[in-house]
Amino acid sequence: MPARVLDGTTVARDIKNEVRPRIEAFARANDRPPGLGIVLVGDDPASETYVRNKLKSAGETGLRTDLVRLPETSGLEDVLGVVGRLNRSEDHDGILVQSPLPASMGPSAEQAVFDAIDPAKDVDGFHPANVGRLVQGRPVLAPCTPLGIIELLDRTGTVIEGRHAVVIGRSDIVGKPVALLLLHRHATVTVCHSRTADLASVARSADILVVAIGRAGFVTAPFVKPGSVVIDVGMNRVEDRATVLRLFPEGHGRLADFDRRGSVLVGDVHPGVADVAGAITPVPGGVGPLTIAMLLWNTLRAAEARARQGA
Ligand code: GUN
Repeated sequence: MPARVLDGTTVARDIKNEVRPRIEAFARANDRPPGLGIVLVGDDPASETYVRNKLKSAGETGLRTDLVRLPETSGLEDVLGVVGRLNRSEDHDGILVQSPLPASMGPSAEQAVFDAIDPAKDVDGFHPANVGRLVQGRPVLAPCTPLGIIELLDRTGTVIEGRHAVVIGRSDIVGKPVALLLLHRHATVTVCHSRTADLASVARSADILVVAIGRAGFVTAPFVKPGSVVIDVGMNRVEDRATVLRLFPEGHGRLADFDRRGSVLVGDVHPGVADVAGAITPVPGGVGPLTIAMLLWNTLRAAEARARQGA
């Protein structure tokens, strides 16, 4: 029997419907909506798409959004200047600097920028103060994709407590924080990465398998325990027909999409895994919409916390 599809779009819509009235109530009580400042440096096409989707969803739920665009040639000081202005702004409760920053800014630029964001406005949960709070299991603005994964598991009836969760990928944005969130929910957690020995057999011991490594179709059926829950965080734009053919056979609708458009968006999990897993998230339409829903949620929480503190 093919795996149940965990529909992120529906769950994200439910979350947005819960956030909207609270945003309206905040706006009535404070004479302004919660505000989110988004900083986009350069013109990376994937970042353009992510930011466009974030702005659209925020607008639909009544958040104020301000997009600050900086050219590819910007220096670190330019980005820090914008972050400083948003930190001081009364009207902005959340700040998001889209990652990645241009490589020309240097390898440590991203960390310097995230460190400069006021932790109370850090709706990405990337500031070291928030990372520390997350490690300790204290109330925190946690990263949006990991939060979305937990919401998706909870709202589709997946038990986390006592289960073995395997996370493939150790990034600061997804792998590490989702491992911590799963641990706080009493899963037994294993984190794997590119140097893990016999990755497939470790993955195959998972009741919940979270894959966030950025390699199209990397996780195939032998990585997956029959009946397990597979969360695919990958968003890979594939432009090479041989790779698409490895994922989708001749006659498949996605191959036809590729032939029409010249590219196709695929996850880190091979579609054949659907024949083994008990439940699986699609790409697109799985984790992606939840990341955005949780950004709105975090911005509302940041606004409510700032209002309580008389900010
Ligand atoms: N780039 C990819 N995912 C994210 C995210 O969650 N936040 C930010 N700021 N940039 C990203």
